[in-house]
Amino acid sequence: MTAEPVPLRPREKERVIRPMQFTDLETVAGIEKRTFTLPWSMNVFHGQLARESSVCLVCEIDRRVAGYLLADMFVDVWHLMNLAVDGPFRRRRVAADLIEAYFAVTERHGHRGHTLEVRASNIAAIELYRSFGFVSTGVRPRYYTDDLEDAVIMWRDWEGDSA
Ligand SMILES: CC(C)(COP(=O)(O)OP(=O)(O)OC[C@H]1O[C@@H](n2cnc3c(N)ncnc32)[C@H](O)[C@@H]1OP(=O)(O)O)[C@@H](O)C(=O)NCCC(=O)NCCS
Repeated sequence: MTAEPVPLRPREKERVIRPMQFTDLETVAGIEKRTFTLPWSMNVFHGQLARESSVCLVCEIDRRVAGYLLADMFVDVWHLMNLAVDGPFRRRRVAADLIEAYFAVTERHGHRGHTLEVRASNIAAIELYRSFGFVSTGVRPRYYTDDLEDAVIMWRDWEGDSA
């Protein structure tokens, strides 16, 4: 699937949500390393970006990649697999814009809903997802291999006409 650029309510002069390109991967992997204790490798990003079914978006502010989102459809469910906003750009609705764009792209395709896993201690992300209608549906105990933290499973029903 190819995501088209999604026009947004601009909050800065040069804010754009666009499909991720292979040329973004170095920057994206840099943000990833700064952000997560179990970062995706360049190879994992590369493989995900190459998949036909995936939705991979970046938010660019003043021509700098401020954040990114990667998702993929498995059977009839969208999995939000990765989302990060670089430190200086947080609390500026970058993640919110990425999620809105993600919904706009995926809502064109019939599916049952969206799911994701998030660290139980990640209050910022859990609040973000809740604000978009995700609800907690379970826990995967000791899911994260570095510190064995639990993952909260979150789910959002598709609001379209038919799956
Ligand atoms: C979680 C994360 C993606 C949020 O990105 P962001 O661009 O700063 O979030 P936004 O500005 O779009 O926030 C949208 C809403 O999410 C919630 N939110 C975001 N950050 C929050 C925080 N630190 N504390 C509480 N709620 C928060 C709020 O409801 C916020 O709305 P508000 O600003 O009107 O209160 C960002 O903090 C991040 O990259 N964290 C590290 C990586 C990560 O945890 N990724 C998710 C893995 S599952």
